[in-house]
Amino acid sequence: KWNREILGHYVNIIIIYNTSYKYFKENFMKEILSEIGRLNHIAIAVPDIQKASSIWKNALGANISSTQLLPEHGVKVVFIESPNTKVELLEPLNKQSPISKFLERNPNGGMHHICYEVLNLENAAKKLKDVGAKILGDGLPKIGAHGNPVIFLNPGDFSGTLIELEEIK
Ligand code: CO
Repeated sequence: KWNREILGHYVNIIIIYNTSYKYFKENFMKEILSEIGRLNHIAIAVPDIQKASSIWKNALGANISSTQLLPEHGVKVVFIESPNTKVELLEPLNKQSPISKFLERNPNGGMHHICYEVLNLENAAKKLKDVGAKILGDGLPKIGAHGNPVIFLNPGDFSGTLIELEEIK
């Protein structure tokens, strides 16, 4: 009887272990194994941020933030929040802004980049290097518009789309 009781405890422990391992695997491993996390934002370059925000507000009923100036990035920005991500409207502050060059090619504006969150930018950069994908600029992280380190990836490697990776603390 005593042995049976001990065996019963062992069986219970194994069942609990397996169930929690399965739960852990399904809920956390996916995120740990995948380099990219949530879509943080989609950035759209616009020639006139007031005009662009009012159509998002009036036609889509979107909540619009106040306009923020980010001189170190050469842009004015408005955030449009939605339940799962945000859209950032970007208007260049000057001719040197990278957004100015984009608007020369797309005078009415257009999608400029999408930004994914990553847990570890160094790991993500290493993986990119391993598969031969390029990081723009000198390849080193810069502090982005939200105060976190970011890198931008070569659009040529990603179907013509500029991708930003932002490390979320
Ligand atoms: Co961005």
